[in-house]
Amino acid sequence: MNLKHIAIIMDGNGRWAKKRGLRRSAGHREGAKNARRITRAVGNLKVPFLTLYALSTENLYRPQDELDGLISLMRDYLKNEIPTLLENKIRLMVIGDRKYLPADVKKSIDNALEVTSKDYKMTLVLAICYGGRDDVIRAVKQIAKESDVARITEKKIAAALDTCDIPDPDLVIRTGGEYRISNFLTWQSAYSELYFTKSLWPDFSPAHLKRAIAAYERRERRYGRTDETVGDKEQGPSKKMGKLR
Ligand code: IPE
Ligand code: IPE
Ligand code: MG
Repeated sequence: MNLKHIAIIMDGNGRWAKKRGLRRSAGHREGAKNARRITRAVGNLKVPFLTLYALSTENLYRPQDELDGLISLMRDYLKNEIPTLLENKIRLMVIGDRKYLPADVKKSIDNALEVTSKDYKMTLVLAICYGGRDDVIRAVKQIAKESDVARITEKKIAAALDTCDIPDPDLVIRTGGEYRISNFLTWQSAYSELYFTKSLWPDFSPAHLKRAIAAYERRERRYGRTDETVGDKEQGPSKKMGKLR
C-alpha cells in the first residue's frame, strides 16, 4: 500500500460535548483520548507518518478559558505520554509557531522531541499553533534572507517549511462534517486525497480509520497527468514534460 502519511483535522469536539450537555472542555479531553487511540491504530497499520491538527493559528482567537483547557491537555500529554511513545517506538515532531506557547510547554516539547528521536518506527507530528499560511510566510522570510530570488524553487520552499523532513500527506481526513481545510498543510496537501466524515472526532474509531484508508485505496492519483503518463504507482508521477506547440 502506497500510504506513507495520514494527516487528520480532528474536528467536532465541541459538538460532541454539546450533544451530551457537557462543556466544550470535556469534548477536548475526549478528543485527546481519541488522538492516543488513533495514533496506536495508525502504528498498527504500519503507516510511518501521522499528523494531527491540534491547534490552528485561528484557534488562538477562541475564548481564554477554552485555550487554558487546551494547553492544560497539552501539558498532560507531554507529561504522561512519553513512556508510551518510547514503548511503541514513536518519534514525536511538532510543526507550527511555538512562539505562542508558554515557556514550560516549549521546554517539555524540546525534551519529548529529543528523547523520542533515536529509535522509532513511526512519526507522530503534532500541529500546534499551526497555520498553513503562517508556515509559508515563515519559510519565505527564511528564504529571502538566504537565497537569490531567481534561485527560488519548489524544492527550496518545501525545505524551508516546518514539514521539511516529512513527506507530503497522501491522505487528509477531516472529521466533524465540515468540508474545508481550515488552513491545514496548505502547500503540502496540494495533491493529497481528501476524506471527509460526519463522525465527530471523539467518535472517530479505528474502524472509521480503516474505512477512510479503504476509500483512499480506491482513488486514482493522477497528479494532473493521464493514465498514460501518470507513471509507476510506487515511483510517483512521471517527470517528463510535454511541449505546447
Ligand atoms: C476541534 O474541535 C478541536 C480544536 C479546534 C482544538 P472543535 O472545538 O472545533 O469542535 P466543534 O467544531 O466546535 O464541534
Ligand atoms: C480546525 O478546526 C482546526 C483544528 C482541528 C485544530 P476548526 O473548528 O478550528 O475549523 P473551522 O473554524 O470550522 O474552520
Ligand atoms: Mg470545529
